[in-house]
Amino acid sequence: MSQYNLFRASIYHCTESDRVIEAIYIPDGLMVVDNDSGQILEVGDYTTTAPKWPNSLSLKHFKDSLIMPGFIDTHVHYPQYRVIASYGTSLLDWLNTYTFVEEQKFSDLDYATTVAELFLDELIKNGTTTAMTFCSSYKQSVDVFFTAAEKRKLRMIAGKVMMDRNAPEGLCDSAQSSYIDSKSLIDKWHNKARLSYAVTPRFAPTSTNEQLTQAAKLLKEYPNTSDTKGVLLQTHLNENDEEIEWVKELYPESKNYFDVYDSHDLTGINSVFGHCIHNTDEEYRAMADSGSKVVLCPRSNLFLGSGLFAIDKLEDFEIEMALASDVGGGDSFSMFQVMNEAYKICKLNDYNLDPVKAFYLTTLAAAKVLNMDDSIGNFEVNKEADFIVLDLSATELITEKLKVAKDINDILFSLMTLGDDRLIKEVYILGQATYKK
Ligand code: GUN
Ligand code: ZN
Repeated sequence: MSQYNLFRASIYHCTESDRVIEAIYIPDGLMVVDNDSGQILEVGDYTTTAPKWPNSLSLKHFKDSLIMPGFIDTHVHYPQYRVIASYGTSLLDWLNTYTFVEEQKFSDLDYATTVAELFLDELIKNGTTTAMTFCSSYKQSVDVFFTAAEKRKLRMIAGKVMMDRNAPEGLCDSAQSSYIDSKSLIDKWHNKARLSYAVTPRFAPTSTNEQLTQAAKLLKEYPNTSDTKGVLLQTHLNENDEEIEWVKELYPESKNYFDVYDSHDLTGINSVFGHCIHNTDEEYRAMADSGSKVVLCPRSNLFLGSGLFAIDKLEDFEIEMALASDVGGGDSFSMFQVMNEAYKICKLNDYNLDPVKAFYLTTLAAAKVLNMDDSIGNFEVNKEADFIVLDLSATELITEKLKVAKDINDILFSLMTLGDDRLIKEVYILGQATYKK
């Protein structure tokens, strides 16, 4: 019989069915994790659950702590680790002034390796256990990223940026080379251990029609089947007014920005579009019809002055969504701080983002956006035990604020408003201790 480990603490996670989110809070809980597979065997109330699991390898009791699923950051750029907090520009100028300059450094293998390691450690330190990241346009930047993720046993999704125009020559690939390089990366890494590949045309302005056609060819060659998951697609859409005007000039034949991707067969349930903050109703409708997913990046939208998103629109059109950091356009790796800014943007649109929904959008909803809710996102039996242990007395202010919390909603709201990496006491990957503050 395989051995198991026990973790005792307050436990929080959620489930979702027919768009109804159910918060599950167990003040004195027990999580049971299979030591071999790293999968969850049971989560329940300590008093009733503990007697069923005698003779475990170990029991860890976290006092004054809350266990919850690791965060899932569905849109982030690992080569922008050092671009974060770059001063004073908006999207297109920021890309040219800071981002394209920094991303060229990833032609150096050692540089790319160092940043991949720093990036993954920063994610973990912030309680993010899964991310879908853009790499640079250099193939090897993907190799070093997946190698670093595999070493840490993380569930990660990444892809080589495809860009064959409107960027410095050193960063540009070609339609043909981007297809060949992406394909060889897919063959090497997709569905290996906990790793998955995302076909990654950066955004419509930096790809030719020919390159978008090659990207679609990859999606078709690696589809979902009854026993394997196909590759995902990640890109940007409707982030900034200037960008949208530019897309109109570059693709005069398209009905709108979304149609650029849709007409190239780049949309559907495996396609994840970052931002979408200036969508027209026609675009929302087409996105919903195609089953495409949206990732909202509040901190990036505020930092680059791109605009304010509208969650209610996405809900009206029943489009699946999640929240993400978009580092380095976003200025924090902390998903607590991503939720904090999401709440404020919603406020400006007369929408109250309740804390249960905010945490859903950074855990289970994010898993659904990635088609990975069969393995991560909450603590259902057989899911992978990637979890974080929050220190509920991390700061004096949090300690004091939680003394007046009436229920789990109050606790969660205080955490997403006042919290950051100081809250992350320990991180477990597949039930194994990976990080301790
Ligand atoms: N659009 C195209 N590339 C990027 C990028 O790197 N960051 C953001 N925020 N938007 C983009
Ligand atoms: Zn981005």
